[in-house]
Amino acid sequence: MRRPVIAGNWKMYKTIAEAVAYVDKLKPVAGRARHCEVVIAPPFTALAAAAQSARGSEIKVAAQDVHWDKEGAHTGDVSAAMLVEAGATHVIIGHSERRRDHGETDEQVNRKLKAALASGLVPIVCVGETLGEREAGNTRQVLERQFAGGFCGLTPAEFSRILIAYEPVWAIGTGRTATPEMAVESHRIIRELARREFGEGAAISLRILYGGSVKPDNIGGLMAQEEIDGALVGGASLDVGSFADIVNYPRS
Ligand code: PGA
Repeated sequence: MRRPVIAGNWKMYKTIAEAVAYVDKLKPVAGRARHCEVVIAPPFTALAAAAQSARGSEIKVAAQDVHWDKEGAHTGDVSAAMLVEAGATHVIIGHSERRRDHGETDEQVNRKLKAALASGLVPIVCVGETLGEREAGNTRQVLERQFAGGFCGLTPAEFSRILIAYEPVWAIGTGRTATPEMAVESHRIIRELARREFGEGAAISLRILYGGSVKPDNIGGLMAQEEIDGALVGGASLDVGSFADIVNYPRS
């Protein structure tokens, strides 16, 4: 049984005060969830405060990025140990906005992933095709390339600690969600790649989240799919009420 994960990616939103107020409101409505793991990803500045406020609840805190080095001359970057010290248990790696804004490559994703694993963080690695790539019929190739580059050199044991988020770039922040069928098709490709590279056990236990315009009114249809093990939610995670509704999605 794969335990679902519902993660809220706040991106560059919320001050420390706003983050604390959010967590205080989220705790009573989602802080005891048993059917899924609940993760929030505040910006770096609010990580420690959010983690502090989440104490005593089941809510976990993720960073939105990490550098691969332990320390060094990397202005503006933050190391895995710094994230752990601030109270993060998870870290998002390779989000398409970082690939787009900061030119992140699969090779860098791989280095970040290894640094996160070495520090005991749970990486949430994002993959997914652009609209042009989908329209050209290249979704599989893109996923294969991102998988091969992003996950190379890992042992099956390391791979088993990773969460993958399938986020078609054309569905992020656009209100255009992939249909559950489209998401399932891509999740199957990713699981097949995991099977090929890391074996049956790793493939079966791999949790693949869907991300891209997830909202309270479409989460039920997505989570009804056996292939979909959770969601990475951007815009709709910024409001506590709507994120709580997503966490408490309809279950049969
Ligand atoms: P969105 O973002 O839910 O606003 O589409 C998802 C993401 O970027 O993780």
